[in-house]
Amino acid sequence: MTADADIIDALRGAGLAGEGEVVLQPLTGGVSCDVWKVDSPAGPIVVKRPLPQLRVAAEWLAPVERGTSEVRWLRRARGVDPHIAPEVLAELPTGHAFAMRFLPGCPVWKDELMAGRVDADFAAQVGKGIAAVHAATAYNEGDRADFPNDDMFRALRVDPFLLYVAQHDAELAPALTALATNLSGRKIALVHGDVSPKNILVSADGPVFLDAECAVYGDPAFDLAFCTTHLLLKAVWSGDARLNAAAAALVAAYRAGIDWEDADDVLLRAGQLTAALLLARVEGKSPAPYLTDPEHKRIVRDQARVLIGAPQAIDALVAHWKRT
Ligand SMILES: Nc1ncnc2c1ncn2[C@@H]1O[C@H](COP(=O)(O)OP(=O)(O)OP(=O)(O)O)[C@@H](O)[C@H]1O
Ligand SMILES: [Mg+2]
Repeated sequence: MTADADIIDALRGAGLAGEGEVVLQPLTGGVSCDVWKVDSPAGPIVVKRPLPQLRVAAEWLAPVERGTSEVRWLRRARGVDPHIAPEVLAELPTGHAFAMRFLPGCPVWKDELMAGRVDADFAAQVGKGIAAVHAATAYNEGDRADFPNDDMFRALRVDPFLLYVAQHDAELAPALTALATNLSGRKIALVHGDVSPKNILVSADGPVFLDAECAVYGDPAFDLAFCTTHLLLKAVWSGDARLNAAAAALVAAYRAGIDWEDADDVLLRAGQLTAALLLARVEGKSPAPYLTDPEHKRIVRDQARVLIGAPQAIDALVAHWKRT
């Protein structure tokens, strides 16, 4: 039986496919998963199955159990606010695959930004949504127990984004290694782990977060830093000041949602992480695919290196971020 036949059988078992022909239409993206759209009797659905090895140039291995983490995150986030994540319809008994409702007519935020449609209000809603999940899960033993994914987070986030650069840069290694150690040690709230514009759908009800395979109970500053990094890289790529404004709106809305610790502490940690992630996106294992112009890379690299040595809170970092 082919892998696809496996999925179709599992969908039938879950009551998500009729007896007739079932067509799995591949969706775009997918460096880490097979993702299909399927027309089911319950309407269009998305089926996602993690790949044992990521489809990227530098070989990354990742346990397929991350499919289960994603399902847990999606369910938990919908418990906080049903608009911010797709409904999970079934976990399928094959390769940690699952089915969720397909959201029609919702572009991916990255595509909107790259097409020059930059909406600071939407960015603020992204900040508010991430903070809502963090606030709801902060210092919660149940959530901590449900997301014991430190090994996965280390393999997919800490190693490639922080320690890889540290290993190739003796000057910055002490600061980056300390940052990695502190990040791994903080157990504060449920972190999505991949809040990138390519994993956010733009719906009429605001942002919908996808792709929570890296979810871990950890430092919420990571999500804020990860998403802000993407906006600042795109600001350099496009030279568009509205991306700085969108990043500022995201940070301000996130800050307004911090109720579990001193907001200044979170913003300082997020600033440190943003500096490291910016550098990782030009010198690391997972370079931003659109930032190919050497001058763009230099602008990011020069600012990031200074910031790693002299950290700023993320709101100040965004306010001072130069696009040229
Ligand atoms: N529930 C959904 N409704 C509509 N579109 C969806 C849904 N889930 C996923 N998609 C589409 O499929 C794409 C890939 O989904 P997702 O990001 O979850 O997979 P992935 O394999 O982890 O992707 P990547 O590794 O490229 O980030 C999304 O960018 C989006 O365009
Ligand atoms: Mg994705």
